[in-house]
Amino acid sequence: MKIAILPGDGIGPEIIEQAVKVLNTLGEKFEMETAPVGGAGYEAYGHPLPEGTLKLAKEADAVLFGAVGDWKYDQLVRDLRPEQAILGLRKNLSLFANLRPAILYAELAGASTLKPEVVSGLDILIVRELTGDIYFGQPRGVRICPDGPFKGEREGFDTMRYAETEIRRIAHVAFQAARKRSKRLTSVDKANVLETFQFWKDIVTDVHKEYPEVTLDHMYVDNAAMQLVRAPKKFDVMVTGNMFGDILSDAAAMLTGSIGMLPSASLDAHNKGLYEPSHGSAPDIAGKGIANPLATILSTAMMLRYSLNKAEQADRIEIAVKKVLTQGLRTPDIYEAGATKVGTSQMGDAVVKALM
Ligand code: IPM
Ligand code: MG
Repeated sequence: MKIAILPGDGIGPEIIEQAVKVLNTLGEKFEMETAPVGGAGYEAYGHPLPEGTLKLAKEADAVLFGAVGDWKYDQLVRDLRPEQAILGLRKNLSLFANLRPAILYAELAGASTLKPEVVSGLDILIVRELTGDIYFGQPRGVRICPDGPFKGEREGFDTMRYAETEIRRIAHVAFQAARKRSKRLTSVDKANVLETFQFWKDIVTDVHKEYPEVTLDHMYVDNAAMQLVRAPKKFDVMVTGNMFGDILSDAAAMLTGSIGMLPSASLDAHNKGLYEPSHGSAPDIAGKGIANPLATILSTAMMLRYSLNKAEQADRIEIAVKKVLTQGLRTPDIYEAGATKVGTSQMGDAVVKALM
C-alpha cells in the first residue's frame, strides 16, 4: 500500500514527522513517498500543487497531508496561494465527503471554553460536502455591476450551486454514518433564503426515504451555529454544504478546547482519501517544536480505518493517544496546571511507546 506524504508548510513537517514515526511502529509494510505542497510546492516548483505532487497523490492509496499556508504568500495571485493546493487536491481527486469528528476527550474537559456540563462527553460528526457550493461555482470574479442601484460600479461575485448528484451522494454518506452511530442526522441549510439550499433540503428529504431507521431533522445554519454553542450534545451527525461546513466545523472543533486534537478525512466514492488535521499551518509556532501532533496522528488512524482497511491498527493508535493523555502528557495548546508539558516530538515518541 502506497501512502503519499505531503507535509506542506508551517508546522506541517513537524507534525507529519510524528505521524510517520507512528506508522513505522505498526509492524506493517507501507510504501511512503513525500512531495512538496502549498508554499513548499511554490518554492520548489513555482506552484502550490506541482504536477509531480498531484500525480503521486492520484496514484497513492491514501494521502497524508500536513497543513499549508503562510502569510508571506498573501500577496500572490490567488492561483498560486498555498490554499489552492488543498482545493486542487480535493477537486482533482473528487474528495467530496469530508468527515470532521469533534470529540471531547474526558481528560481534556477543562480545555474547553464552555462549561464542562455543556461539553463533557461531546461526540459529534460533521459531514461536510467538499467539492461543490460557492467554493467552486462558476462564474466568479470581479466585474462591472450590470444593473441595480450600483450599476456601473465594480462588484465581486461568486456562484452558489449544487447539482442533484452532489447532494444525493453526500446525503448517502451522512445517512450511512448516522446509521452506524445514534441514528440521528441534522441537515443544515439556509432554505429560508437560498434557492440552492431549498433544493438541498428537498433532496436530503428524498434520500431519507432510503434510511427510515435514521431520524432526520433540518436546521437553518444560523440556528445551528447557535445550538452548537448552546447545547452541542443535542447533535450527533450533521451534514451540510461546503461553505457552512467550513464555518460550523471550526466552531465544533473549538467546543473540544483544542483544534490540535481533531483529525479529518476527505473521501471519494471509493474510500480513497486525504487525511489531515483540522487545524492549519500555524506559522506563528512553526519550527518551535511545540505543535500538537495528535490531530495528525489521529488522522493517520482514520486513514488506516477508511482507506487502508486496517481497523485494528486504527484502534491501536486511538488507544495509544488516550493512554498518553491519561499519563498527563500535554503540548502547550492543551496544557493545564499539574500536567506534564511536552513538545511535538516528545508527544510523538510517547505515542510510539504506548503502541509498543
Ligand atoms: C478547511 C480550510 C480550507 C477550506 C481552506 C484552507 C481553503 O479552512 O479545510 O476548512 O476553506 O476548506
Ligand atoms: Mg476551514
